[in-house]
Amino acid sequence: MSLWVATAGVTGYPSLDADIEVDVAVVGGGIAGLTAALALKRAGHTVAVVEAARVGTGVTGHTTGKVTSLHRLVYTELAGSHSPDTARSYGQANQAAVEHIARVVAEEGIDCDFRRVSNYTYAETADTLARVREEAALGAKLGLPSVFTAEVPLPFAVKGAVRFDDQAQLHAVKYLQGLARAVDGDGSHVFEESRAVALHDGAPAVVDTGRGTVRARDVVVATNVPLGDAGLFEERCYLHRSYLIASPAASEKLDGTFISVDEPMRSILAIDLDGASYVLAGGEGHRATEAGDTAERYRRLAAFSRDRLGTGEVRFRWSTQDGIPIDGLPYVGRMSPMAAHIHVITGLRKWGLTNGTAAALILTDTLCGRYNPWAAVFNSNRIAPAGRAPQSAEQPGAQEAAIAAAPIGEVAGQQSIAGLRPGDGTVVEIDGEKTAVYADPAGQLHAVSAICTHLGCTIEFNADDVTWDCPCHGSRFSTDGAVIQGPATRNLAPRPAPSVPADPG
Ligand code: FES
Repeated sequence: MSLWVATAGVTGYPSLDADIEVDVAVVGGGIAGLTAALALKRAGHTVAVVEAARVGTGVTGHTTGKVTSLHRLVYTELAGSHSPDTARSYGQANQAAVEHIARVVAEEGIDCDFRRVSNYTYAETADTLARVREEAALGAKLGLPSVFTAEVPLPFAVKGAVRFDDQAQLHAVKYLQGLARAVDGDGSHVFEESRAVALHDGAPAVVDTGRGTVRARDVVVATNVPLGDAGLFEERCYLHRSYLIASPAASEKLDGTFISVDEPMRSILAIDLDGASYVLAGGEGHRATEAGDTAERYRRLAAFSRDRLGTGEVRFRWSTQDGIPIDGLPYVGRMSPMAAHIHVITGLRKWGLTNGTAAALILTDTLCGRYNPWAAVFNSNRIAPAGRAPQSAEQPGAQEAAIAAAPIGEVAGQQSIAGLRPGDGTVVEIDGEKTAVYADPAGQLHAVSAICTHLGCTIEFNADDVTWDCPCHGSRFSTDGAVIQGPATRNLAPRPAPSVPADPG
């Protein structure tokens, strides 16, 4: 479980079980949705936030906690792939987001361990040193708080870094819970455990949860992977999974937040929580559709943290997935060129605390009829660059063909139920249906359909995160079949638990 989720209190907003009407409905209680909801409420609108689980338990609850406009080497990247003006807009929007978060924390009195820090992108080789020098110079030219420095406060030797001062870090879930408190009340609402299952464009637009509806002038979809996806964002983003661990800090405190240019990429941050000091180390990212050894990825992070940061035994570890836009810029605006009142925020490229805040403020301006200087750059209906995210061997056709060749009762590459150890899972065929079987730590079997409710691929067990993951487009499900992350929006169908006991050994 994420350090942030584990150390925040639990919220208890009601489920939506009636039909209500507000000015703006917001689907998703993460950073983008709640920031938009509060900004809209402050502008005089009534809002209703509809969250499938609990506030802050989705992608935002699995962040690093960095609040910064320095996103590794993003300015060199965007100036090259788009233009320096586009890079400047991206930087200004994200820098404005840093300051917006600082203001909201102060104005709403949110106790979320907000702390001003410098953020560094560091180089360990001569080659990457040249690249951080270039990024530092470009950042300064674009008007951002960017300098090159050879002084990098890390406990291991590096060549130099680009440093942005007056950036920040915070406890992401506590911040979101503070936003939710400010949103709820005075005709506005936060609903939890209320999964939106359908959207209807029109006047009014409607969000349907199956147990209640929100009718609104406008709907904002801020669900990481957009519900309904009329804008074909699955083709314009790919899901990227990354991993984080938190371990007790060494005696010397880290002052700043850090990310490496060299591979394997490492992200570093320190935080004091409830009298304990932790260091977070992140990395090992890959496309969600790529297979790999999750345990080994966590082991490599733990070794890095222990050997280079001097930390103790890992206390928390977690992974998450975020959308990477294929042209490098988040998508903010109408869900599709045809959409009248359904709007979207997606593709936050793993820097969701600031990109999500920037996106929410851009969309708020649009919905309030105000000009926003960065809206055009983030426009969700911009012309996409040629090409698309490459297909992989895990695409539906290839996978289904492999499964079709497997004998009845077994699924290619999977173990039998009898061989299952507590804490493990497998996919088998029972009565001709692919069934995902999980043995809990007590050896009790639990079964759900193994067919992903998105487009029908067969899910796989992830023993390290204890989730069922879909290799096709990255949906994730809990062991009882509940959707953790889309694009799937429907839970896996329950199946009777098989009678073959797990091997307790
Ligand atoms: Fe698309 Fe599973 S089939 S995520």
